[in-house]
Amino acid sequence: MNTVITGLQWGDEGKGKIVDYLTETADVVIRGQGGNNAGHTVIAKGEKYVLHLLPSGILWDDKINVIGNGVVVDPIGLCVEIARIEGQGVEIGPEKLLISDRAHVVLPFHKELDAAREISLGDQKIGTTKRGIGPAYCDKVNRCGLRMADLLDRPFAEAQIVRRTAEVNEILEKYDLPTFTAEAVIEETFTAFERLRPHVTNTIPVLHKAWKAKQNLLFEGAQGTLLDIDFGTYPFVTSSNTTAGGSTTGTGLPPTAIEAVIGVCKAYTTRVGSGPFPTGDEGLSEYLHNLGREFGATTGRARGCGWLDTVLLRFACMVNGVTGLAVTNVDGLDEYEELKICVAYDIDGTHHDLPPADRSSWDRAKPVYESLPGWKQDTTACTEYDQLPENAKAYLTRLSELCEAPIAFVGVGPDRAQTLKR
Ligand code: GDP
Ligand code: IMO
Ligand code: MG
Repeated sequence: MNTVITGLQWGDEGKGKIVDYLTETADVVIRGQGGNNAGHTVIAKGEKYVLHLLPSGILWDDKINVIGNGVVVDPIGLCVEIARIEGQGVEIGPEKLLISDRAHVVLPFHKELDAAREISLGDQKIGTTKRGIGPAYCDKVNRCGLRMADLLDRPFAEAQIVRRTAEVNEILEKYDLPTFTAEAVIEETFTAFERLRPHVTNTIPVLHKAWKAKQNLLFEGAQGTLLDIDFGTYPFVTSSNTTAGGSTTGTGLPPTAIEAVIGVCKAYTTRVGSGPFPTGDEGLSEYLHNLGREFGATTGRARGCGWLDTVLLRFACMVNGVTGLAVTNVDGLDEYEELKICVAYDIDGTHHDLPPADRSSWDRAKPVYESLPGWKQDTTACTEYDQLPENAKAYLTRLSELCEAPIAFVGVGPDRAQTLKR
């Protein structure tokens, strides 16, 4: 079954863990959007792997992993990541990792442009990961970006870098940020590209061949629905379509190739970076941070934590066409006495069961809660759904009802083995 794995909240829902788990029965794992702003954690056989650009199927032998055309690739970052994961004993040869020749390149100055934009926004800053993702997608849409295929034509790529570096330096000077010489950008980029060259190919026919041969395709989303450039809490979002549609435009496989959409969410809500977070709760944040949980995989920042928000989840299930939910981190709530679920937003006295579009309504949205009793029991050793405490099952059933989507998987710990199938 060709399946999209997509985040339903503000990222970090546990997509990497679910993708790794489902890779056992898949043949090809494909990323279609985002870049190394993503941080996907997989814990398998006691070893922890953090993946940024590499698809989370990379830990399994004999599976093909594809970085699709919709991803923005930082060649330098990807080389560092490959070396780190290979250092953990995972082989990453050109037959196992394919990089689309249509993927856009994140250049060193994109990261500084990211910083410049944040400085210019002042107290309205987005809180980006500073990986240059927004500026790289800007150049793509502005038709002045470089694609992997362009790096195969070195004289063309060099001329483009010379032109773009001059433009970028003018902006950086305004913010007293370090400027670049085109020579340094060219040198660093091509050194990394030479390492990646054997992996770069036209991935579209490869994917279509796999599809026609009825192989199992797994699409790995990065970020989450509320960070989607169209459906998220704009402007506090990332710069790509993180929702299921990004899996087709970002890979060259058509919508008709998709047979299932698994929406991943935590049993509560987290968010890093700025922007609205109606169910954010300091008490829950402190509780989870004290357990050593909820520190970002990419930047190490403490994530804000809050109660489960089914206004967001309902919307996310709609726009992604979710056919099954994977609810992770259920064990995070094991010791809580009473759990709150947000069922609507109160905006100026009117209840809304879908999120607003405009910024001021977001700022005025007050969560309307219902409460459920906690289960006060350790769930981390459960190996089957039916072993979950009754109150945990009741919580999941209510979540499912409110989102109008069935539960497919439940996470009770970070390890590959701690995923329960419904
Ligand atoms: P992703 O970006 O969606 O892949 O998620 P991250 O890896 O950034 O963040 C999810 C965090 O939750 C990581 O630290 C995972 O190891 C952890 N995790 C995932 N599922 C579970 C779960 O069911 N229980 C616990 N305790 N941790 C989980
Ligand atoms: P994964 O795939 C959580 C957030 C940043 C910031 C906003 C824009 O691990 O779920 P960007 O660098 O993309 O321009 O930042 O998006 N953000 C993420 N938050 N998980 C992620 O990825 C994220 N990728 C970006 O914190 O608020
Ligand atoms: Mg993450």
